Parts: sequence; structure tokens; C-alpha cells
Amino acid sequence: MKQRIRVWDLPIRLFHWALATCIILGILFVKIGGNAIEWHAYCGYTALVLVLFRIIWGFVGSWHARFANFIPSPKSLFAYLQGQYDGGLGHNPLGAFSVIALLLAILVQALTGLFADDDIFFQGPLAKYVSNATIAFLTSVHRFNQYIIFALIALHLAAIFFYQIYKKEHLIEPMITGDKHIDGPNSYSVSIDTSKQRLAALAIFLLLGMGLYYLIR
Ligand code: HEM
Ligand code: HEM
Repeated sequence: MKQRIRVWDLPIRLFHWALATCIILGILFVKIGGNAIEWHAYCGYTALVLVLFRIIWGFVGSWHARFANFIPSPKSLFAYLQGQYDGGLGHNPLGAFSVIALLLAILVQALTGLFADDDIFFQGPLAKYVSNATIAFLTSVHRFNQYIIFALIALHLAAIFFYQIYKKEHLIEPMITGDKHIDGPNSYSVSIDTSKQRLAALAIFLLLGMGLYYLIR
């Protein structure tokens, strides 16, 4: 009989789908142009708070959310590439690199956005504290880094569909319901996903949001 095992706690799932929404809407708004840049900035602030939340949750969250439980050692990465890895239900060693790369690229994008200037409608809220040369540099990083993010998202989606179609491993459903279905008795680690932990996640998220609000207002 199949057993349901909680892998992704609710905060990780909400984080994931909220981040994906912010990134997609943020890019749409900036491509629309004009005053929609204001909405681009709101999506960017939310993405920043989400990524900062995810970094903290990577230290204090449930088992499979913790970086220590999915960032691979060279040994586990090598075993994975040779097809001999059975390390658990969370991110696999290669997936872990793409997760970290995505988080870092989005962090750089959101932070540089705070100083970016489109020379017409909008200036990031922290641009007034730095020189014009710094604004120009950070704006060009912001422009260039979009392509790194596009490439990482394409890779992310390609990997998920590759697992879904060729390896018959369903990764999307657990990112919605939180659970994986595993055969028989097993010794896999379970993510604790209690209301207390969810409240703690909400408190961290709100505190980060308030911190950013006071920094940029
Ligand atoms: C477009 C923006 C997207 C971004 C920025 C993004 C980002 C991420 C990140 C950061 C993670 C790691 C989760 C964590 O541990 O915190 C992740 C995992 C995941 N994402 Fe996305 N994602 C996006 C879109 C999508 C879409 C559209 C799907 C579904 C079709 C999807 C399906 C998944 C799945 C299934 C995982 C778990 C992978 C695993 O089991 O290792 N993502 N994503
Ligand atoms: C992770 C979140 C973000 C993403 C994915 C993102 C993405 C982008 C993209 C794709 C562009 C278009 C670049 C181009 O080709 O011209 C852009 C431009 C811009 N973004 Fe963001 N951005 C983010 C966060 C922010 C934030 C937080 C702010 C400011 C509050 C911001 C302010 C700007 C400005 C002012 C421009 C126009 C720069 C120019 O004219 O070249 N962005 N952003």
C-alpha cells in the first residue's frame, strides 16, 4: 500500500507559487511599459521578501526545506550522476543547484531593482542614496540578469517536465498538495507542517515585509 509522506510544508508551497506569480507578473508589467513599472516594482518587492523568507526558512523550516538537507556534497552529486543516489524525497542533488541558482539570481535582480532607473517614469527607492555611476551600473546588472533568470526558469521547467514525462516522477503534484506517495514501509524523513510552524513562517514573512517597507518608504 502507498503511504503519503509530507515533503513540502505549506509555507514552501505558498512561497513557491507566490514567487512564480510575482516573477511572471513582474516581467509582464515591465514589458507593458509606461506606468505599469510601478506594478513591476510591487512584484519585485514581494519577490524580494519571498526570497529573504526562503533563505531564513532554509535554516529554520521543516526537514526538506532546510538547505543542510538538500545542498549536495561532491560525493552525493557524483553518486546521483552515476544513477546510484537514493538520498530522499526532497530536491535531488542536481535540482538543488538549480534551486540555489534561481534564488540567488532573483535576489540579485530584486536588490539591483531597488537602485535601477528607467530614465523616464521610475527610479528604484534606494537610487537617491547612490551616485549616477552606481545607478547606471546596477541598472545594467538588472537588465543583464533578466537573461540569466529566463535561462534558469527555462531549465527549471524543462527539468520538471523531463521528470514528469520520461522518468514518470510526478513533482508538480507534491508542490501543490505537499505530499509524495511512497510504496510500503520506508525510512524517508518527513517534513513537519504544523499550524505552529505555519504561524512562525507567517510571522517571519510579515516582519521581513515590514522591514522592507520601512527601508523604502
Ligand atoms: C516562473 C517562475 C518560477 C520560479 C521562479 C520557480 C522557482 C522555484 C524554486 C525557487 C523552487 C525551490 C522550492 C524550494 O525549495 O524553495 C522550485 C521548485 C519547484 N518548482 Fe518552480 N518556479 C517557477 C515556476 C514553476 C512552474 C510553472 C512549475 C510547474 C509547472 C514549477 C514546479 C516546481 C516543482 C515541481 C518544484 C519542486 C522540484 C523538486 O521536487 O525538486 N515551478 N521552483
Ligand atoms: C525579482 C524581481 C524582479 C525582476 C524579475 C525584474 C525584472 C526586470 C526586467 C526583465 C526588466 C526589463 C529590463 C530591460 O530589458 O529593459 C526590468 C527593468 C526594470 N526594473 Fe526590474 N525586476 C525585478 C525587481 C525590481 C524592483 C524591486 C525594482 C524597483 C523597485 C525594479 C525596477 C526596475 C526598473 C526601474 C527597470 C527599468 C530599467 C531600464 O530602463 O532598463 N525591478 N526588471
